Amino acid sequence: MASTMSLDKHNIPPSALYTAATWQWGKLPGAELVTPPNARLVFRVMNAYSSLYRLLNPKWHSLKHTLLHRHAGIEHLLRESNCSQVIEIAAGFSPRGTAFSADPALRYFEVDLPPVVAAKRALLQSTAAGQGVLRRENFVLLEGDVTGMDWTKFAVSPSFIITEGLMMYFDRGVQMPIWRAIAEFLRGNRGEYVFDYLPVPDEPRRSVAGLLLSRMRGTQRRAFPQDGRNRYEIADDLRAAGFEDVTMHSSVEFASAWNLPHEMAHTRVILYRCRC
Ligand SMILES: C[S@@+](CC[C@H](N)C(=O)[O-])C[C@H]1O[C@@H](n2cnc3c(N)ncnc32)[C@H](O)[C@@H]1O
Repeated sequence: MASTMSLDKHNIPPSALYTAATWQWGKLPGAELVTPPNARLVFRVMNAYSSLYRLLNPKWHSLKHTLLHRHAGIEHLLRESNCSQVIEIAAGFSPRGTAFSADPALRYFEVDLPPVVAAKRALLQSTAAGQGVLRRENFVLLEGDVTGMDWTKFAVSPSFIITEGLMMYFDRGVQMPIWRAIAEFLRGNRGEYVFDYLPVPDEPRRSVAGLLLSRMRGTQRRAFPQDGRNRYEIADDLRAAGFEDVTMHSSVEFASAWNLPHEMAHTRVILYRCRC
């Protein structure tokens, strides 16, 4: 796995724990079934740091609101898509599959690396409601690595493919083959691919104090391998990978246009919707 994502001692990314607690804070349906107990501590610590960071960088956005708009924005596009199969890659502790697979007409695959899939399965197994979700024939928890996916595991059917909170951890050399494989799958099945990515030119400017704090923490060397491509160059790469139709949606506009929760919160998310 060629990503820059950090892992805890159980091989679970703390970022997946933070997002899990965010979905529970946002009261997303099913979140109570798939939130690891240690996620709340990660959420509190990260929010304390985020508040300090925003004191120093007043233009910076709220992390939990940004994630909520990302998640709810993807769900808006999913509802619009009319696909009969969802393949959510890097699903982490997202409750989306748990909630959407309540509709038996929708086949829902959640894919992630083995330690995360094992932890999520154990969480679902620990409650009667979770066991009910695991028994659903249309809900499948699958171990898989996006950099070497076996696409034959999925049905031939119009598909909505999601990679949420993932592509920023890969550099362009890793992203391109992933996008080519997804485009090839969709050419044979129809459907669409949605993911989020915030290029450096779209980030809010850091203040001098904020830059100093980053330097002191050593975070000037970025956790994400950003390379300066702007959103239009990302869209060009997606077209080069085989998607014919690429549209971009910014939360600055869609949070209120799509009536998302906390629509007035200042957030920066760009969603890319790609079709063949
Ligand atoms: C930041 S978390 C986001 C989780 C989830 N999408 C959400 O928004 O709640 C990133 C997830 O990507 C998964 N991941 C990292 N590298 C992966 C890979 N090569 N293939 C599949 N999943 C991967 C991690 O295990 C983790 O669950």
